[in-house]
Amino acid sequence: MKITPTNSLVGAYVEDIDLSAPVESDAVDELVSAWHKWGVLFFRNQNLNDEQQVAAASIFGDPVPYDFAPTTEGSEIVHKIDNEDGKPKGGSSNWHTDATWLKEPPRGSMLQAIKLPSSGGDTLFASMSAAFDSLSPSTQNFIEGLTALHHGGSKLGANRIAKKIPEDAVSHPVVRTHPVTGKKCIFVNRLFTQGINELNPRENEALLPMLCDLSLRPELQFRFQWEEGDIAVWDNRSVQHYATPDYSEARVMHRVVLAGDPVE
Ligand code: OGA
Ligand code: MN
Repeated sequence: MKITPTNSLVGAYVEDIDLSAPVESDAVDELVSAWHKWGVLFFRNQNLNDEQQVAAASIFGDPVPYDFAPTTEGSEIVHKIDNEDGKPKGGSSNWHTDATWLKEPPRGSMLQAIKLPSSGGDTLFASMSAAFDSLSPSTQNFIEGLTALHHGGSKLGANRIAKKIPEDAVSHPVVRTHPVTGKKCIFVNRLFTQGINELNPRENEALLPMLCDLSLRPELQFRFQWEEGDIAVWDNRSVQHYATPDYSEARVMHRVVLAGDPVE
């Protein structure tokens, strides 16, 4: 197995590994620590069936059912991100952390490209620990004590999935500390964050977009160009991601979500 960082500060490629077979415990340790270090790992040409994808995801956490998206036939855990009609769905084409409207948002997700358009449909990733590090110490100090309200309903719109999303908004720290690396990570996003609790509306108008839009800086990003059968697994505590809505042919992805942990 060979782990090679991308040319960016987020993401690494893993080569010479077959995720359809059991992975030895030394390799598991190496993968998990690379995942924490680089935020997202890419495995080319894996072509996993549902059972294999769930087993591969379990290297990084506990695969759990995700009630907010339809599953593949025959699996309760693998679900389908289905843009079969060639029309990108809106939500994930905003920089976001997955499901921050849950009290314990997923620790991470593993996505596999099943069917891709002939061009387009890349996914971008941004390091939220590098985003925090890019701020001045004064701003870092100021935002560390703040909390923000997250809700899923508003921007996701009136799809059937949104109906199941909890009614109540949840609060999370604006800066979370990664439970393993101890790194501080920005934990607000334009898709789900409604406002910073301790600030008044005018202050929110100025500060919240500034924090959410740190992910827009190219030097914090990596852009992954998919091929069918590729796998990406991201650490939802330390990176945000963005689905590029620049295609008009079918794009189908299979996703496995990992159980969340407390946001602290
Ligand atoms: C997701 C997501 C991005 C993509 O699965 O949570 O945002 O490019 N996907 O499909
Ligand atoms: Mn997402």
